[in-house]
Amino acid sequence: MQTRVLTGITTTGTPHLGNYVGAIRPAIAASHDAGVDAFYFMADYHALIKSDQPARIERSRLEIAATWLACGLDPARVTFYRQSDIPEIPELTWLLTCVTSKGLLNRAHAYKAAVDRNVAEGEDSDAGITAGLYMYPVLMAADILAFNANKVPVGRDQIQHIEMARDIAQRFNHLYGGTFFTLPEALIEEQVATLPGLDGRKMSKSYDNTIPLFEGGPKRLRETIMRIVTDSRAPGEAKSLDDSALFTLYQAFASRAETQVFGKALEDGMGWGEAKEILFERVEDDVAPMRERYDQLIARPGDIEDILVEGAAKARSIAAPLVAQLRDAVGLRRMNTVATPAGKATVTKSDKMPRFASFREDDGAFRFRLFGGEGDELLLSRKFADPKQAGALRQRLQTLGGGQAQLDAEGLAYHLVVDGEPVAISPAYADDTSREAAMQALRAALDALAAA
Ligand code: TRP
Repeated sequence: MQTRVLTGITTTGTPHLGNYVGAIRPAIAASHDAGVDAFYFMADYHALIKSDQPARIERSRLEIAATWLACGLDPARVTFYRQSDIPEIPELTWLLTCVTSKGLLNRAHAYKAAVDRNVAEGEDSDAGITAGLYMYPVLMAADILAFNANKVPVGRDQIQHIEMARDIAQRFNHLYGGTFFTLPEALIEEQVATLPGLDGRKMSKSYDNTIPLFEGGPKRLRETIMRIVTDSRAPGEAKSLDDSALFTLYQAFASRAETQVFGKALEDGMGWGEAKEILFERVEDDVAPMRERYDQLIARPGDIEDILVEGAAKARSIAAPLVAQLRDAVGLRRMNTVATPAGKATVTKSDKMPRFASFREDDGAFRFRLFGGEGDELLLSRKFADPKQAGALRQRLQTLGGGQAQLDAEGLAYHLVVDGEPVAISPAYADDTSREAAMQALRAALDALAAA
């Protein structure tokens, strides 16, 4: 079974080495794993929370798309799209907003930090804080839950958001009585989660300590590397590797063997200036071929647009059916459908045809239910590890016909047996008579399906 891995990148800045090492490189490597179904997207709605400068957002979207493609992202393998191309995401955001407790959002780090700053400055606690910032975690939960992602690679600062997405998903599942959402897990690359910047703090645009990935070419890369802060030990003096940003940066690009040689040279007294040259050469070795592709891509924005539009179509083919199911679950049904008992995510058509509804369990298993024309649950399939197998059984039931169905009573429920194996179970009924009636209803439903 494939693991669905999803991550978003906020389109405000220009990619730097920290983004590359901490997010882009591991994400692309993961996408080559046959067991991974990768969804990578540009969080451009999130960008609006951080920036009200259209030109900057626009430029950043282009640069980030070109960067990921230049770094080796294969849009045929990965679903690569823009958040703002998926209308199901804001739609889901609202459905989730309505089950999210305000207190949960009060506790979000980013919001709390903004409040604390205001208080420290003697301002009104919510001064300058938009509702967008406040709602950030819900939008992010929608990003993740719209695709039922299993794993979400993020930096440590985002772990709380993933936990909130889980909380919100659980609450929705519970309130509406179904396994609508898979509970996502944060995935932290322990080795390289945070790359130090020029001043040794985490490399981040907000600290203004970044080393650009492509911007400014090799010249700018070299100049910036020369500005890495080191201690005052002179050439010939032994250097300590422990809190050396320069050494950590080297390690993030070099092999273990290269790193050993480099570390030894520093301990033996290599000067910082020389070490910076070596670091530059090592980074440039990796970056140069990607920069060349980047320059080609960025010169043809129309091609990038085509790739993203295609990615959005792929993404929507997954999000749209899920959101349709959720709309039904919360009661936003079409007027020409039959109402169903509260708490059941059932859909019925006005033409009263039986209907299958597929879903995924917390443990990743694929299952489906069969509902009768009145929206009554008839059957729950067994679990399948492979969605294709679940699909094959659905197909089979589509053509089986009521006369052919083997139904074995089991307590107050019954099993549907196909090829000698129980493949689905009915709900438990109040008594034998109701169970018999339900069996009749199932046979009628199977006949209706076969005749359709
Ligand atoms: N908030 C994330 C960040 O700043 C970006 C993001 C938005 C994201 N939506 C997401 C990451 C969904 C993972 C999944 O890094």
